[in-house]
Amino acid sequence: MTGSVSIPPQLKAQVEEHLEPLILSDEKLRDISQRFLKEMDKGLGKSTHHRASVKMLPTFVRATPDGTEKGDFLALDLGGTNFRVLRVQVMEHAVKKMDSQICPIPQEIMVGRGTQLFDHIAACMSEFLDSQNLKGETLPLGFTFSFPCEQKEIDKSILIRWTKGFNCSGVEGKDVVKLLKEAIHRRRDFNIGSVAMVNDTVGTMMSCGYPNSHCEIAIIIGTGTNACYMEDMKNVQRVQGEDGQMCINTEWGGFGDDGSLDDFLTEFDREIDRTSINRGVHTFEKMISGMYLGDIVRLVLKKLTEDKLLFKGKVSDALCTAGKFETKFISDIEKPDTKIGIENTRKILTDLKLDFDTVDLHVVHLVCQTISKRSAHLCAAALATIANRIRENRGLERLKSTVGVDGTVYRKHPTFSEELQKKVKTLAPECELTFLISEDGSGKGAALVTAVAERLARQSRL
Ligand code: GLC
Repeated sequence: MTGSVSIPPQLKAQVEEHLEPLILSDEKLRDISQRFLKEMDKGLGKSTHHRASVKMLPTFVRATPDGTEKGDFLALDLGGTNFRVLRVQVMEHAVKKMDSQICPIPQEIMVGRGTQLFDHIAACMSEFLDSQNLKGETLPLGFTFSFPCEQKEIDKSILIRWTKGFNCSGVEGKDVVKLLKEAIHRRRDFNIGSVAMVNDTVGTMMSCGYPNSHCEIAIIIGTGTNACYMEDMKNVQRVQGEDGQMCINTEWGGFGDDGSLDDFLTEFDREIDRTSINRGVHTFEKMISGMYLGDIVRLVLKKLTEDKLLFKGKVSDALCTAGKFETKFISDIEKPDTKIGIENTRKILTDLKLDFDTVDLHVVHLVCQTISKRSAHLCAAALATIANRIRENRGLERLKSTVGVDGTVYRKHPTFSEELQKKVKTLAPECELTFLISEDGSGKGAALVTAVAERLARQSRL
C-alpha cells in the first residue's frame, strides 16, 4: 500500500496539512541533533548534570568481557510489562541462557506499593529456583532494571524516577538492590550472591555479538526508548579518573523535559503527555516508543475525523479511548505486502467499530507511516549524535562501530529499522554503523556484567 496513491488530491492536501508538523526534514533533524549534543554535555558536566534532562548516568561498567569469565548466574529482567527470571551460564567465550520464566506483573502492582512489587519479584524468583532445583545454591545475580538510576557502585543503584507504565510508591530515591535483598530476606527461603545492576541498554551492549564483535553503543526501542555508549573517562566529570572508558546510560527518553524540544511538539504529543501517568517527563520517549505510538496514531485519526476528513466524520468510542489503538496495529497496517496490509487495516477498523471506506484505509496507512517514520527519524538524530561524538572523541575521520539493538518496535515494525539506518547514514555520513539485534540481551548481558565484576574483584584481591 503506497498510502497516498488512492487518496483524491484535494483530500490528500488537507490530510497532509494536518500531518505536516509530524514530518521532520533533515534540516530539522540536524537541529535536534545539535540540541541533543548540548544536552549530553550538560549531563556529563560536573556543575550542570543536576539540571540536565538527558541524565548521562555513569554505569560503573568500564570493561567489556575478556572471554575468561565463567560461572552460573541468575538474571532478572524488569522493565516492560513482564518480569523475567533466567539462569545463565557464562563459559569461556560464550554465554548461554539455560532456562527462564516469565512472570506477568499485574497492573495494580505496577502502580502499587514498592514493597509489594519487590515481594512479587522475590516470589517469582523463589518459584523459578524451585523449578530448577536451585534453592540450596547461592548464585550471583545480574539485575536488569530498566529505569533511570543514579548508580553509586555496580551493586548500589538509586531510582531517580519511574518511567513507562510503572509508578510504585516508596521506591524513588531508594537503593533498588537493597529493596530487592530485603524482599528476599523477608521470604527466608533462598539466598543470592553478589549483585550487579544494569540498565537494559547496558545489558544489550555487553551481550551483543559476544564474543565475536565489539559493541560500544546500544539502543532500545520498545515499550520505552534509551541508549548507552562507551564514553571517555576524561569526559565523565562526575566520576574520578581520567583513563579508559565508562559506559554511560544516556536516558535519552528525558530529552526535551526542559522545553528544548517544545517547538517540535505537536498538539498530539502534548495530549499524550497530559494524559500520561508521568506528566512533564520523558518527552522524547513519548514521541518514539511503543508505549505511546498507538495512542499518537489514535489522536491523529480522531482529529482527522473531527475535521470530517475520515470515517464520514463519525468518531467511535474506540478513537476516544486511550490504548484502544494498539502500537502493534501500526506494524500490521504497514505490512509491505499491500494485500495483507489492506486486509489487516480493514479488520482493525472493523474491530474498532469505525465506519470506513477504501479511501479511509489509505489515509489510516499514511498516518501510521508518518508516525512510525517520525519515531525512527528522531532515534536516528540522537544516535547519529552519539556516533559522531565517539568519532570525535577518538579524533577519527571515519568511525566503524557496532550498535546493539533491542525492543519490540525495532524488531516488529516492518520498515522501522530500515528507516532508522538510512537516516543515520544521512546524518552521520562519516560513521559506518553495523546494527546487531541482541538475543536475550538483558538477561545474558546482566550475567556478563556480573561475571566481569566478579573477575575484576578477584583480580584486585590477587
Ligand atoms: C525507559 C527507561 C530506561 C530504559 C528504557 C528502555 O526510558 O527510563 O532506563 O532503558 O525505558 O527500556
